[in-house]
Amino acid sequence: MRAACDAGVPGIHGDCGGALACATCHVATDPVWAERLGPPGPLEDEMLDMVDGERTPTSRLSCQILASEELEGLILIVPPAVL
Ligand code: FES
Repeated sequence: MRAACDAGVPGIHGDCGGALACATCHVATDPVWAERLGPPGPLEDEMLDMVDGERTPTSRLSCQILASEELEGLILIVPPAVL
């Protein structure tokens, strides 16, 4: 979320600063990456029910994805409904 906001990615707002309170950082992950990232945690899962647009099977809140070397090449998609 922070990287997307810093880069001005349309549709990623991060209004709550990553506190799991706004769901304005919704992304869908590439299916291969979704498996590597694992499922959302319980609070993230609840917040995903409140995203603008349609929740997908690979939806995540990008503020809960912590950047690391293991995620080099991560593919995230901003759902069209929020653009
Ligand atoms: S930035 Fe608010 S839930 Fe992710």
